[in-house]
Amino acid sequence: MAPEKDEMIILKTPALLKYILETSCYPREHEQLKQLREATVEKYQFWSIMNVPVDGLFLSMLLKIMNAKKTRELGVFTGYSLLTTALALPLDGKGEEEGSFDFAFVDANKDKYMEYHELLLKLVKVGGMIAYDNTLWFGSVVEPKEKLDEKARPNRKHILELNSFLAADSCIELAHLSVGDGLTLCRRLR
Ligand SMILES: C[S@@+](CC[C@H](N)C(=O)[O-])C[C@H]1O[C@@H](n2cnc3c(N)ncnc32)[C@H](O)[C@@H]1O
Repeated sequence: MAPEKDEMIILKTPALLKYILETSCYPREHEQLKQLREATVEKYQFWSIMNVPVDGLFLSMLLKIMNAKKTRELGVFTGYSLLTTALALPLDGKGEEEGSFDFAFVDANKDKYMEYHELLLKLVKVGGMIAYDNTLWFGSVVEPKEKLDEKARPNRKHILELNSFLAADSCIELAHLSVGDGLTLCRRLR
């Protein structure tokens, strides 16, 4: 049986996520992001969980601190995170050019994250950042796999492998955050 939306939240209670969203996120959410989020809820109901408003404000601030100009995203659903990034870039920022990137956000097929990492380490400049979403996979990384919906089990395995792989990678500085569904920031060192 498919999990309920509330069962996929990693915070102590769903009320805590609602509190963060209503107190800090929604009042500061860009109007275009609000419209996109609401349209996603209307059209996709359950799958609107792919919207990332909590990560969004964090990533937006991070991009500004970094003065990021060239960014890339792997894995787009209705584009909430892509629009978040675009809105955080300066006017001379570029979204889709080849070259040395300041920032990449990865929220695509989890079985390929390790391959994407090898590739992105070449695309992102030294000092640049790669952010991986879902690195706590709805909290299942510390649960027996049997507790998880059967369809979601392969991704639990991929995320467990990824987390160990990234932790052992001396090419990056790493911060594994309990933001959203788990967000791992990797800063390229060399
Ligand atoms: C979790 S959603 C991304 C949500 C995104 N943060 C947003 O706000 O739109 C993952 C997306 O990755 C896409 N995806 C899956 N495998 C992919 C692949 N191999 N290459 C590119 N995108 C892929 C899926 O179709 C899906 O739309």
